[in-house]
Amino acid sequence: MSPNNLLLRLFPVLIATIVTMTASPVRAGESAGMALLERRCASCHNLTGPAPTTIHALWARKAPDLFYAGNKFRKAWLTSWLQHPVRIRPAGEFYANHVKPGPNRDMVDESTLTPHPALNAADANLAAEALMTLRAHDDLIAKENVPPGTISKSMGSLVFDKFLGCMACHRIRPDFGGLSGPELYTAGSRLKPAFMASYIRSPQSWDPKIWMPNKHVSDTRIVQLVHYLQALSKGKSHE
Ligand code: HEC
Ligand code: HEC
Repeated sequence: MSPNNLLLRLFPVLIATIVTMTASPVRAGESAGMALLERRCASCHNLTGPAPTTIHALWARKAPDLFYAGNKFRKAWLTSWLQHPVRIRPAGEFYANHVKPGPNRDMVDESTLTPHPALNAADANLAAEALMTLRAHDDLIAKENVPPGTISKSMGSLVFDKFLGCMACHRIRPDFGGLSGPELYTAGSRLKPAFMASYIRSPQSWDPKIWMPNKHVSDTRIVQLVHYLQALSKGKSHE
C-alpha cells in the first residue's frame, strides 16, 4: 500500500477519534466547570494571571488569585470549603481595609466583612475540578521536594515564631497570631506541601508585590516549617 493510500484509509479513523475526544464527558465537565468559574467567580478572582505588578493593584485586589489554584490547593479541601466557606484571612482582602485600632492592638472590623458565596455539592465538585486544571506555576512546584516526616510542635513553634517571626502575620490558632496573612492552622489540609515550601522559599515568585518577606529560609528549615504546619492542621481541618 502506498503511503498516500494509508493516509486516506486512516483519515476517517482520525476524524472519529477527534470527534469522540471533543465530545467526551470529561471535556464537557471541564468546560462546564470553567464556565461556572467565569460566571460566578471571575468578578472577584483573577483566573488567568498575571499577579498584580504594582502595590496599588495589589491593594485593590478583591480576592486571592486563583490562576495557579491547581498548584496550590488540595482538591478535597476545595470541594469541601466551597460548600462551607469559613474565613482564611482573619481580616479579609485587603486586610488594612478591615482592621480598626483596639485598646492594645489592631482588631478585625467584622462589620465590613461579608461571607463568601457557597456552592451546592455538584457545583463545588465542578468548580474544584476546573480549579485543579489552573496550574500556571508547575515550574515553581517542580523545584520542591518535601519528604514526609514529623516535627514536635514545640520545636516547630520555636522555628516558626522565635527564629523566623512568622507569627507576626499568621495565626496558628483561631485566636492567636497576626492578622495580615492567611491563618495557618488549617494550611496543612488546605495546601499542597510543595506549594507551602515554594511560597516560604520565595513569596514574590508567586505574588511579586506581596508583603510577606523573603527570609531566605534554608532547605532544612523549610521542610521543618511544612511539617509543623501539617502537624498544626491535624484534627483541625475544614474537610
Ligand atoms: C464577592 C467576591 C467573591 C466572589 C464572587 C467569589 N469569591 Fe472566592 N474569595 C473572595 C475573598 C474576599 C476571599 C478571601 C477569603 C478569606 O481569606 O477568608 C476568597 C477566597 C477564595 C478561596 C481561597 C483562596 C485562598 O488563596 O485562600 C477560593 C478557593 C475561592 N475563593 C474560590 C471561589 C470560587 C470557586 C468562586 C466562584 C464560585 C468564588 N470564590 C467567588 C471573594 C469572592
Ligand atoms: C509581614 C507579614 C508576613 C510574615 C512575617 C510572614 N508571612 Fe506568610 N504570608 C503573608 C501574606 C500577606 C501571605 C499571602 C496572602 C495572600 O495570598 O492573600 C502569606 C502567605 C503564606 C503562606 C501561603 C498561605 C496561603 O494560604 O496562601 C504560607 C505557607 C506562609 N505565608 C508561611 C509563612 C512562614 C513560614 C513565615 C515565616 C518564615 C511567614 N509566612 C512570614 C504575610 C507574612
